[in-house]
Amino acid sequence: MNIQKNISLKEYNTFGIDKKAELFIQVSSAQEVVHALNEARNLDLPVFVLGGGSNILLTQNIEALVIQINIKGYKLLKEDQNHVWVQVGAGEVWHDFVLKAIASNWAGVENLSLIPGTVGASPMQNIGAYGVEIKEVFDSLEAINIQTLEKEIFDYSQCEFGYRESVFKHKAKGQYIITQVVFRLNKKPSFNIGYGAIKDTLREMGITTLSLEAISKAIIHIRQSKLPNPKVVGNAGSFFKNPTLPKTGYQELQKVYPDIPGYVNENGIKVPAAWFLEQAGWKGKTFGKVGVHKNHPLVLVNYGNGEGSAIKELSIQIQKDIEEKFGIFLQPEVNLI
Ligand code: EPU
Repeated sequence: MNIQKNISLKEYNTFGIDKKAELFIQVSSAQEVVHALNEARNLDLPVFVLGGGSNILLTQNIEALVIQINIKGYKLLKEDQNHVWVQVGAGEVWHDFVLKAIASNWAGVENLSLIPGTVGASPMQNIGAYGVEIKEVFDSLEAINIQTLEKEIFDYSQCEFGYRESVFKHKAKGQYIITQVVFRLNKKPSFNIGYGAIKDTLREMGITTLSLEAISKAIIHIRQSKLPNPKVVGNAGSFFKNPTLPKTGYQELQKVYPDIPGYVNENGIKVPAAWFLEQAGWKGKTFGKVGVHKNHPLVLVNYGNGEGSAIKELSIQIQKDIEEKFGIFLQPEVNLI
């Protein structure tokens, strides 16, 4: 294990923002996590945990020991007639895990193809796409308590999952480092193609026999056609969450905008934030080196050498504008640092 000083984090965040870590260390096991935490204590420095860096916006240098989680590996823990329980290292790339599951004929994560980031970060915000969230296949996780340095297990209910939410964004925020995640995947797939464009895309691709691989291919196709590749244009996927409006608020808006999309959920009606942004004219707008993506307005982008503070400023302008025009406050989905 090698601690580096004053290194650029540009390669470690998908926005490609060039901010520095005072100290930086990569860890590849739970023991190394504990070792790094002890180092931070000796140096009297806080710690900052980095996974794939796909859901953060860096607006300043990080005066901490940045611990980058590189814990790899898969372990088949048990299986029964219908399920397998697979333990996955927190540092595995999420999409690699999806591909491995598909190749093994384990169902449940194929709709989550091509989501950027690591396995360890996936429960933090209960990643979701195309009608599936990871809470549906989540069994438990192992994490190191930053204070006690002890290993703790979190089961499904302890994670307090919600829409892009978990306990790790609230009362356990900054207190744990996730090292392993256990997923319960299905041996007998039930294909989930109800969401939006999946059926049409399968048809366009000439796919008539459903399989995990076919669904994954269709989803990769949809994502690649409208979401920018972070390796080419810096971004962190959706910048804002989709707001849920009370039914009355939604009906008021419907009087003015009869075509407003909406999806009923247990708390009201969820409206795509992208719709508000498009209506307000933000789609494709560029401001110097940063902007709003031309194919999907929910994605803020760094066209190269943009500052995190410029993207933050843009997000604040968008929030103000949407609040003025529609009376809706858009919550960021991305963590602002
Ligand atoms: N829309 C527009 N204009 C656009 C694009 C979309 O008005 O240019 C409206 C349309 O009404 C469209 C609706 O937004 O039907 C939904 O669009 P989309 O299917 O692209 O999904 P989203 O609600 O914008 C969410 C997730 C994405 C996930 C997709 C697909 C959030 C914040 N985002 O986006 O997740 O990939 O659904 O399931 O929930 C991410 O979290 O980083 C992310 C990319």
